[in-house]
Amino acid sequence: MIVFQDLSFTYKGEKQPALQEVCLTVPDGGFLGVIGPAGAGKTTLARAISGMIPHHYSGDYYGSVTVNGLDTVETSLDEISQLVGMVFQDVDSQIISPMVEDEMLYGLENFGVPREEIPGRVEDALEKVGIADLRDRTIGSLSGGQRQKVAIASILALKPRILVLDEPTGELDPRSSRQVFSLLKELNEEQGITVILIEQKIMLLCEFARQLAVLNGGRVIFQGETREVLAHSDELQALGVNCPRVTTLSSILSEKTGEKQPACINLDEAEAMVRRLIP
Ligand SMILES: Nc1ncnc2c1ncn2[C@@H]1O[C@H](COP(=O)(O)OP(=O)(O)OP(=O)(O)O)[C@@H](O)[C@H]1O
Ligand SMILES: [Mg+2]
Repeated sequence: MIVFQDLSFTYKGEKQPALQEVCLTVPDGGFLGVIGPAGAGKTTLARAISGMIPHHYSGDYYGSVTVNGLDTVETSLDEISQLVGMVFQDVDSQIISPMVEDEMLYGLENFGVPREEIPGRVEDALEKVGIADLRDRTIGSLSGGQRQKVAIASILALKPRILVLDEPTGELDPRSSRQVFSLLKELNEEQGITVILIEQKIMLLCEFARQLAVLNGGRVIFQGETREVLAHSDELQALGVNCPRVTTLSSILSEKTGEKQPACINLDEAEAMVRRLIP
């Protein structure tokens, strides 16, 4: 379980806090989507879970974050990284090896994974992400989307219990994005891995995440079940957070019919709603 208790953080040298009084709980096995406009504090939130804040980024830190009961301030980065795997928004700052296979091996060797387990883990992770054919390629020869997949695979190979992904599909086409989301859902449902996914592709996110947190100006302004949060579609639009079009449709129809329609989160639900209203 991840628990933020009144966390406020201001990067060293900055005046404005990047996070303010954040209270947030992600249960074990949860799948939390995080949305919010640029500069809202999403990446900062991810860094606070992975321990990079305060271990790598210094600043004014108030409140606490615990990951499976461990306070991230008191726990070493090594220990936290055994629990939390993070895919960075900027994958190029994450990838350090010149070759795909070396990148996969680097983490596994650093983690002290037994030698005999390593080949199987590499193969399995590459296979899961659908990039087994890239194994012998140089990083420099890959597209942005392929590098993103390598970063994801190298984290999956470490088998963390908690996965934090900061816009991991930014460079991917819609088909590959959906594949990554489906893989996360499978890991979440079948292995109970907790997923925290920061995403701009909100339509896709709402289909997969069970809970949503909306950040704005460093504060969590809404959190809860995906459908409950989307019921605030008017407020979200006002912040510049685009809601899925099906959600906007349910909100417009609530207004037009004078009868509150439940927020739709996928096409099937929108179709059912329209059929109900237009016999
Ligand atoms: N390393 C840093 N040093 C100083 N300030 C930072 C640093 N990283 C982020 N900030 C500031 O903290 C605030 C929150 O930034 P953050 O990167 O967490 O937002 P975000 O929601 O991830 O934005 P985006 O959608 O652009 O990725 C911003 O004002 C940003 O300028
Ligand atoms: Mg960010």
